[in-house]
Parts: sequence; C-alpha cells; structure tokens
Amino acid sequence: MSQEKKQEKNPPNEKMESIIALCKRRGFVYQGSEIYGGLAGTWDYGPLGVTLKRNIEGLWWKMFVDDREDMYGVDAAILMNPNAWVASGHVGGFSDPLVECAKCKKRFRADHLSDKAKCPECGGLLGEERQFNMMFKTNIGATEDAGSVTYLRPETAGGMFVNYKNVVDSFHPKLPFGLAQIGKAFRNEIAPRDFIFRVRELEQMEIEYFVRPDTWEVHFELWRKSMWDFIEALGIDKDHVHELEVADGDRAHYSKRTIDFEYDYPFGRKELYGLAYRTDFDLKSHQGGSKQNLEYFDEETKEKFLPHVIEPSLGVGRTMLAVLNDAYTEDEMGGEKRVYLKLNHRIAPVQAAVFPLLKNKPELVAKAREVYASLKEEIGRVSFDDNGNIGKRYRRQDEIGTPWCITIDFDTLGEKPELLDTVTLRNRDTGAQERVAVRELVARIR
Ligand code: GAP
Repeated sequence: MSQEKKQEKNPPNEKMESIIALCKRRGFVYQGSEIYGGLAGTWDYGPLGVTLKRNIEGLWWKMFVDDREDMYGVDAAILMNPNAWVASGHVGGFSDPLVECAKCKKRFRADHLSDKAKCPECGGLLGEERQFNMMFKTNIGATEDAGSVTYLRPETAGGMFVNYKNVVDSFHPKLPFGLAQIGKAFRNEIAPRDFIFRVRELEQMEIEYFVRPDTWEVHFELWRKSMWDFIEALGIDKDHVHELEVADGDRAHYSKRTIDFEYDYPFGRKELYGLAYRTDFDLKSHQGGSKQNLEYFDEETKEKFLPHVIEPSLGVGRTMLAVLNDAYTEDEMGGEKRVYLKLNHRIAPVQAAVFPLLKNKPELVAKAREVYASLKEEIGRVSFDDNGNIGKRYRRQDEIGTPWCITIDFDTLGEKPELLDTVTLRNRDTGAQERVAVRELVARIR
C-alpha cells in the first residue's frame, strides 16, 4: 500500500462522467442504496457489472489457481478472531492520518492535502493530525462490550495466513506454493472517491506465495511478470500501466519491498495493484499470537523454518474501472456518433447477440431462437434481441461491449438457396459484416 499522490479535489472529468453514466444506464454499476440517497463509498453491481466482475475473477482464478499445480484456493470467513488482527499489526497500525476542519467539520486525509492548515472546502482552520484506524468494528453475539468486539477484515490476506497450517497439514505441499482467495474486504476510508476506485467495501484477488527465504527475489520477479501477463490477458493496454518502486517509509508495515502497478485513470495515475515482499512477518506474528507452531518442515533438507511470502494483491473494482476506461470508445459509424466498449472477448458480459431481422416473422424468430439456443449451449454468454430496428440493436450491443452480433434473415431460410443456413456476423469494432455458415459460428466466435 503506497501513499496516493497529493490531491485535494478532482475536477469534473468528462470521460469519467461518461463511464459512470454508461455504467448506470446499462446496468453495470449503481450507487449503493440509491433509493435512500446512497451510502458513501458503496456501489452495487448490476446484471452486466456482476457478469463482467465474475469474468475478471474467473480469468484470474483460471490463470493463477486452476492452470497451476502449486496453488490452493481458499474462501475464509470475513469475520475473524480479533486476535488475528492484533497479531497482524492492523489493530495497532492500519490507519490513515486524519484532519478535521474546525468550521465545516469535514474530515480529510492529511496526506492528500498540499496545505495541511486550511480546509480545501471552506477555507476554515484544520485541526491537529491524528491517526484514524480504518477497520470496521462490529460485535459478535448479544453483548456489545469490549470483549465482543471484532472487525470486518481489511484485506483478504489474513484469511489465508490463518489457514496456512490447515493447508500444509491437509495437502503437504512442497515449497514454493501459494494460497489464493477472492473476496470482500472493508476499509473505513476517510475520503472514498472516484467511483469504484476507492470504496469502503471492496473486493480483492490475493495470493500469498510461500517460498524459501533465500529465493524471495526470484519469486518476486516471477510474480511481477505474472501480473503483467494478467494485465495483458484482460486486454488493458500495457502502456497505460506503470510500475512504481515504493520507497522506504511509504510501504505498508509488513513489507520489505513493494512495487505498485499504477494505471492512468481519467483522474490521474493511481494504484491499480500491489506486489509486496512480506518476509515472514505474518507467519511469525501469527505464530506468536496463536501460540501454534507455523514452521515448515522441509522433507528433503530436514530443515524447519518459517517460509517468506510474496503477495500479488489485486483489487477487483480497480481492475474493472481500468478495463472500462481502456474499452470506452467514441467514434462515428454510418454518419452517427457511437459509443462502444472495446472489451476483450474473454471478459465481455455478452459474447454474442442473436437477432431475427424482423420480430413479426415467426419463421425468422424460430430460426434465430434455434441458433441462439445452440450458441448458448456452446458458448454460454449469448443474448437474444428482437427489439427495435437492427441499427438500434447493434448500438445497444456495442455499448455493452458485445464483440459479435448475428442476424438471421430470409437468406438464412434459403431465399437465396446458396445462402441457406448462413447468417450475417458483424464485428463490433469495425462494423464489418460477413456471411458465415451457422455450423461455423462457434469456431469463429471462440
Ligand atoms: N493485502 C495487501 C493489501 O491489501 P493494499 O495495497 O492495501 O494491499 C491491495 O490493497 C489492492 O486492493 C490495491 O492495489 C487496490 O487494487 C485494492 N484496494 C485497496 N484499497 C481499496 C479501496 N479502498 N477501494 C478499492 N480498492 C482498493
């Protein structure tokens, strides 16, 4: 976790506004609890957003868990024994510097202000800087005393460290190996902002990769490369991502080396992901806190030691915002302005849409339904649309990033015998259309 660059208030940003408007209009992301006026720092994913999010998570899980032999997935509870957060250093130190304005009472992150004396909103005097712990507290059970306090996890990492021994005991993995988890984390951010960039309820895709202490540098480099591979697989332009070596003093308390992967968001260059060398900080702390022996016994060398940890940590929301920003495109097609999402086909919520040319011709609708059903079976994320004229249907699919549109017309039914059982396949990015045999569709789309 590096400190964000100094910044007070973001000026309105046209591209961000367009992305946010598209997300709401087309059911990707809505404001949390919107009908009650919202809840700061929370966002709800709609039908297309949840599919895009799951596709991103699915790609990550496939690349880093399913396709490897050295990774073990877990799904740990969000509520954990509070002693785990004492041992990890979060109760004592997971805080941001806070200042409050004496006049308007608004609170700011001190490290985001260039003038720490004057309120950026009303010009009033800012008070003393104090540390504000970002963990959400809650109570377990029917009593609300100090003994019942626990926390919503601030990082998914904790759930993996407390399960390290379980996985070692069940699977006896050889070093190096990793635990992986996708899940929610909660941070009471002082200033949530920039849409889904900084939120209070977030989702992380994290890996704790356990290595022999003397090999950490090799594995750090391997994970550095893997993170770039993932960025590429998402379809994000690598020129929009930049590594930042986080300086001493700016790193999280557990890290000896951190590289932030920063992305050029419309509101500036900001942290997308982090890659940290956590040493044996966590296992040592949890060994002390739990009084359990967490040492690893190497069968070959007969040595006992605490493995060190490399942690690639990825935010799901920040990934989605980077993906949407890279994909958002405005151009002109057929003399009209068009907005489309140039999403990678792997993660597009809908991979292909099937249309009957006319909805009041039962024979066209029946054939289109047949093609739709077979594609849905083979490909999965396929939709059917018979609403409005074909041009409008193309625009609707372009706007949500559907790479392919398939139109069933009278030629499909054999009006021109040589075109029997062929359809029009239209490419989202170029608008180019070609005639393709129905039996070739799956291969083409894949
Ligand atoms: N386990 C290490 C860890 O949590 P971090 O840098 O604090 O490190 C990792 O967070 C990633 O989680 C970030 O790179 C970012 O992608 C995401 N993230 C962190 N705080 C966030 C927030 N408030 N809103 C959205 N994403 C956040």
